[in-house]
Amino acid sequence: MSAARPLLLVGAGGLARECLAALAAVEQAGTAPYTVLGLLDDDPARHGTPVDGTPVLGGSELVDEHPDAAVLVCTATSRVPDSRPRIARRLGLSDDRLATLVHPAASVARGTEIGAGAILLAGVVVTAPQRIGRMVVAMPQVLLTHDDEVGEGVTMAGRVALAGGVTVGRCAYLGAGSLVRENLAVGELSLLGMGSVLLEDLPAGETWVGSPARRLVRRPKAVAR
Ligand SMILES: CC(C)(COP(=O)(O)OP(=O)(O)OC[C@H]1O[C@@H](n2cnc3c(N)ncnc32)[C@H](O)[C@@H]1OP(=O)(O)O)[C@@H](O)C(=O)NCCC(=O)NCCS
Repeated sequence: MSAARPLLLVGAGGLARECLAALAAVEQAGTAPYTVLGLLDDDPARHGTPVDGTPVLGGSELVDEHPDAAVLVCTATSRVPDSRPRIARRLGLSDDRLATLVHPAASVARGTEIGAGAILLAGVVVTAPQRIGRMVVAMPQVLLTHDDEVGEGVTMAGRVALAGGVTVGRCAYLGAGSLVRENLAVGELSLLGMGSVLLEDLPAGETWVGSPARRLVRRPKAVAR
């Protein structure tokens, strides 16, 4: 049996906690490809404070001190939708250094291609073989159906559901519980608000919300006198 590869997690926030739990579930299921060395985070306030028993070793530049370790980039925020590919680029992480994490309670159709660095959490369902891009995050209970294609760095929060034939462009962010009608295209770096229902193509770089989803037009903030 080959030895488990050491693993560093970049990011020490909520998604990192969920990934630690998923890694524990993978180990419990009897396949343990990784041994967690610790977390890395660029916020010095987090250094030295363990997260769920796992140490925060220092800043993300420490990946260079562990060239044999695989790296799981676990950041996800709608404010920086392309955070994971950005971090991988900044740290010079090639695909063979990126860890891929699939929770044992995910149901992924055989033949699905999962890109390097992707994270699929518990309850994710992929109903038919398809391509899931590198560094995609699918949070719990995300549903991907036949002929979907999810691009690099896309984040899908819990319970997102894509009908068949949907294409999601790179680094789009789909908020929790959002729904996308069949055969639509979600543009790269776009944002779909939580609970939204998308019934037409979402242009790149735009934020849409509501049911049916429409482009978010921000009202000017009232100025206090
Ligand atoms: C769409 C989103 C990014 C907008 O956030 P924001 O830029 O901070 O915008 P605000 O909260 O200031 O809201 C701006 C307006 O959009 C409305 N709005 C925000 N999100 C909305 C949503 N999901 N559905 C409908 N309307 C929404 C607000 O009511 C507000 O309307 P108003 O101007 O008439 O008062 C955010 O609300 C969202 O849905 N994020 C995803 C959250 C998520 O899924 N988290 C999961 C983490 S695991």
